[in-house]
Amino acid sequence: MTKLEQIYEGKAKKVFRTDDPERFIVEYKDDATAFNGQKKGTILGKGAVNNRMTNLLMQMLEQHGVPTHFVQELNDRETVVKKVSIVPLEVIIRNISAGHFAQNYGVEEGIVFDEPTIEFSYKNDDLGDPLINSYHARALKLATREEIDTIVRLSFQINDLLKEFFLAAGIRLVDFKLEFGRTSDGTIILADEISPDTCRLWDKDTNEKLDKDRFRRDLGHVEDAYQEVMRRLLEDKA
Ligand code: TMP
Repeated sequence: MTKLEQIYEGKAKKVFRTDDPERFIVEYKDDATAFNGQKKGTILGKGAVNNRMTNLLMQMLEQHGVPTHFVQELNDRETVVKKVSIVPLEVIIRNISAGHFAQNYGVEEGIVFDEPTIEFSYKNDDLGDPLINSYHARALKLATREEIDTIVRLSFQINDLLKEFFLAAGIRLVDFKLEFGRTSDGTIILADEISPDTCRLWDKDTNEKLDKDRFRRDLGHVEDAYQEVMRRLLEDKA
C-alpha cells in the first residue's frame, strides 16, 4: 500500500490517502493540546504509545464483536485504517466522577456510579465542542436515530469490555471519549483512538492518574504515565 497526500491534520494525528480508495493511513504525533487547543505541548513518545495502545484495544474489541476501523499497524506511529467519514459527535462514557462532570455538577472526583453515564458533544472546535443531546444531534442532522441507537449500544458494550481489560492491568477506567465513523456502505464503526489522551485511567490501588490529566493539570511525569499504561497492558497480555 502506498501512502499518498495528507488529507487532514488534527491536534494529535494526521490522516493520509492511500492507493486503496477504502483505506487511510493515520500517523500519531507527540503534540498535545488541552482546553480546546489553548494549552499546547509535546509529550515525548506519546504518538507511539497511542498508536500501539489504540491498536491493541481495537483488536481486543473486534474479537468481542465490536466493528472498528483498525486494519494493520505499519510501524510505531502509523496504522492502516478503514476509510470512514467521522460522525461529528464525541461520545463520553463515565464510570466515576471526574473532570467536567465533577466541575459542572459540583461534586468531588472519585464517586463510583451505579451505572455508567453517556453524553455527546458536537465535534466542532470553533464552538468549543458544546454538549448536546440526541435530539439536538438529529436536529443538526449529525446522525440518524438508528445511527445514534447503534452508537449508544456499541459505546456501552465497549465500556464493559474496556473496563474489564484495564482492571486486569491494575487500572480503573474512569471515563473516556469515543468517535464513530461511517464506512462507504453506511455501516457505523468505531474510529479515532483509545489512549491516555482520550481516557481517564487511575491506578486501581492508589488512584494515581495515568493519563493526559497529568499534562492538563501540570502534575509532572507525563511521559512516564503514558509508558506505564502501555507497559501494564502489554505485561497483562504476555
Ligand atoms: P471531560 O471530563 O473533560 O468532559 O472529559 C471526559 C473524557 O473525555 C476524558 O477521559 C477526556 C476525554 N476527552 C477527550 O478525549 N477529548 C476532549 O476534547 C475532551 C474535552 C475530553
